[in-house]
Amino acid sequence: MKILVIGSGGREHALVWKIAQSPLAEKIYCAPGNPGIAALAECLPIAVDRIEELLTFARENAVDLTVVGPELPLTLGIVDRFRAAGLAIFGPDKKAAQLEGSKAFSKQLMARYGIPTAAFATFSDFAEAEAYIRSRGAPIVVKADGLAAGKGVYVAQTVDEALQGLKEIMVECAFGEAGRKVVVEEFLDGEEASFFAFTDGRHILPLAACQDHKAAYDNDTGPNTGGMGAYCPAPVVTPALYEKIVTEVVRPTIDGMAAEGCPYRGILFIGLMIKGAQIKVLEYNVRFGDPETQPLLMRMKSDLVPVLMACAGGELEEKTLQWHPQTAVCVVMASGGYPGAYQKGFEIQGLEETAGMGDLFVFHAGTDRAGGRIVNVGGRVLGVTGLGSDTAAAIERAYKGVEKIRWEGVHYRRDIGHKALRNKGA
Ligand code: AMP
Ligand code: GLY
Repeated sequence: MKILVIGSGGREHALVWKIAQSPLAEKIYCAPGNPGIAALAECLPIAVDRIEELLTFARENAVDLTVVGPELPLTLGIVDRFRAAGLAIFGPDKKAAQLEGSKAFSKQLMARYGIPTAAFATFSDFAEAEAYIRSRGAPIVVKADGLAAGKGVYVAQTVDEALQGLKEIMVECAFGEAGRKVVVEEFLDGEEASFFAFTDGRHILPLAACQDHKAAYDNDTGPNTGGMGAYCPAPVVTPALYEKIVTEVVRPTIDGMAAEGCPYRGILFIGLMIKGAQIKVLEYNVRFGDPETQPLLMRMKSDLVPVLMACAGGELEEKTLQWHPQTAVCVVMASGGYPGAYQKGFEIQGLEETAGMGDLFVFHAGTDRAGGRIVNVGGRVLGVTGLGSDTAAAIERAYKGVEKIRWEGVHYRRDIGHKALRNKGA
């Protein structure tokens, strides 16, 4: 088979790395890819939102399966275009991608199908939203309705903070069209987890649970990022909670989407807040997580390609996936200053020293080639992922890799995985 992966981050490097291990994969392309991906796939200079160019490439090169990494092309309707052209593609169509593309849509779906989530109200009028925030008091959460690249969510501890967020979204239009509507919701406390399930629109195949580290600095301090590290499995999701998530969230979401006339195919990513035995959905994403995919796929024993194919067009059997018993921990190495402004173009040293290390893989994200050197060009640059017999061993392995790599200004968290140690009572 010829397989095209769309995207250029650590998530796509992990997808390409896993697909390359399948006996079904004869040729892998990646658009646009990165230098790490280039070792496993032929990279194409086509941006992720150039849907017609991607379609032309897939058609002319007889690509058998296209796998979409990021949400943008999904919300732009790439799946609709490929399917109309008779090409197999993994991901939800434009209508189903609203689950991530519109928070108002996803909250209404949850309300209609009794899926546990924070109490909320939706507004397209500033004064009404302001009156509601004042009547509810703080803490309270204000969210732009549309895609805002991981921003656009204000977890406010005071009414003033919430109103400031509301102003940024609706008056200053910091997120453009994405802020025409807002969702105002109840503040939830607890621990977050990332849950994933494959689906063909009817059958579901849940994956191992993960946990991300969103805050920039140790002990969950500093601004939110796309994710500074992740591990899998996540002990906060006990076997009882896992069952509960499948029956009370995944199943009604997939059935609800089908009943609404927009059956969901691909991978469903559910961001959850967990407190004791209580689970609540924070958000849906219509794609694999980044960096969750790196530890997730390091642990997956099953061949990924037949699962992707089944979700894209066929029937997904309700069988369980096979996993390696180890824990995987991914530490994100970021550019100095990220998630704020950062300098690019510094040479990354030490990568070759990690090449021979077992139970370790370095996934590339914001890297590029400049002459013979690899340099940083993005916020999140590398995802150093280690495997170990337990969480402590996987943490040690990942940081052994991290220690070998350096560039000017590099920053990373030193406490990735520590929450898992606490949840195990270690
Ligand atoms: P979202 O994009 O909706 O997942 O929000 C981004 C982040 O904001 C989440 O990962 C949480 O850390 C936080 N967050 C979102 N909604 C809430 C909520 N209702 N209560 C507390 N924190 C929240
Ligand atoms: N790591 C969170 C995300 O991919 O959205």
